[in-house]
Amino acid sequence: MSSLLVTGGAGFIGSNFVRYWCRKHPGDRILVYDALTYAGYLPSLADVLGLPTVTFVQGDIRNEAEIYRLMRLHEIDTLVHLAAESHVDRSIEGPQAFVDTNVSGTHSLLMAARRAWLVDRRVPRHRFHHVSTDEVYGSLGPADPPFTERTAFAPNSPYAASKAAADLLVRAYSRTYGLETTISNCSNNYGPFQYPEKLIPLFILNCLRGIPLPVYGDGLNIRDWLHVEDHCRALDLVLAHGRPGETYNVGGETQVSNLELIAQVCELVDRCFGEDPDLRDRFPDCPAAHGRPVASLQTFVPDRPGHDRRYAIDMSKIRQELGFRLSIDLASGLAATVQWYLGNQEWCDGVLARSDSNSVVSA
Ligand SMILES: NC(=O)c1ccc[n+]([C@@H]2O[C@H](COP(=O)([O-])OP(=O)(O)OC[C@H]3O[C@@H](n4cnc5c(N)ncnc54)[C@H](O)[C@@H]3O)[C@@H](O)[C@H]2O)c1
Repeated sequence: MSSLLVTGGAGFIGSNFVRYWCRKHPGDRILVYDALTYAGYLPSLADVLGLPTVTFVQGDIRNEAEIYRLMRLHEIDTLVHLAAESHVDRSIEGPQAFVDTNVSGTHSLLMAARRAWLVDRRVPRHRFHHVSTDEVYGSLGPADPPFTERTAFAPNSPYAASKAAADLLVRAYSRTYGLETTISNCSNNYGPFQYPEKLIPLFILNCLRGIPLPVYGDGLNIRDWLHVEDHCRALDLVLAHGRPGETYNVGGETQVSNLELIAQVCELVDRCFGEDPDLRDRFPDCPAAHGRPVASLQTFVPDRPGHDRRYAIDMSKIRQELGFRLSIDLASGLAATVQWYLGNQEWCDGVLARSDSNSVVSA
């Protein structure tokens, strides 16, 4: 039995991870620690918060003393670090918050973990896992090979630079102090409970509300989409069998341009309206409610500065070392995601009601 501390557990990947872990490892205890910024939404955990094994504490990862106190109190042996400022566009507008949370916050966690695990030595084994991004590797040209774990860091946005800095701190704590760490660098995730500033939920909700679908530049930027459930399975494998001090890349092996992805989302929304007449009453502002394709909402907007052209992940290491296999392809994962947003209007209204922005897009 393990006792996990999950930072950022009220966010998109964090809430899916907590739900996944409760299902797969029902005997483990989970302490969710989250500051509940605009991106953290407690109702995303509604179905697991009542479990006796799950505890929630609201707090900032920069509070090292509080993290250390909680690690001792709950005898934490596994720290899964997902808390972050995660939106690239926001990092361009205000990079300081990204340095504060992603760099200083990660360092506070490392200091607390070192004290609890290497100085106090109250648990027999430990693991510090940092959930990072493929954006640390920068941008690929059309013919470049995919990122491996040995690709040099070349971050292009303040967000990516802050995640790269955090990765390097985690590495340094492993090499210098012997903290047992692992890092995963994953591609763009999608699935349920994603805050609607990110491309897929933003576009689904804009379709339903009849709001333009803003496409950066020529829309030909390529991303490798990973369903969040597959990501959680990869994290489980890395935690169980990943070698301390190592990094593992996780991707979806599905490279599509933003334009192709948007076309798929639009087609799915149109199809749902065709199959379910009730949607016309529920979403009267959607063009599909009046027989018009939602793709008519697509609008090109000026590109964002430093916009990476292409990401692609080489997953040989996690596949060969840990036997990881993807289980959800983009077509079925996207269809389920569109259905989830159509069926969870209350969650969407709730998360947006407390947001300060819902009109930007990131991929
Ligand atoms: N979503 C993706 O496609 C993707 C891809 C690669 C890597 N990642 C990484 O995965 C992790 C989770 O991403 P996400 O999409 O779920 O992000 P998210 O923005 O949905 O959630 C982040 C969570 O962290 C919390 N948080 C922010 N600052 C905090 C602080 N100072 N103290 C405590 N909690 C704080 C927020 O309240 C929120 O619940 C991040 O580290 C991100 O960099 C995400």
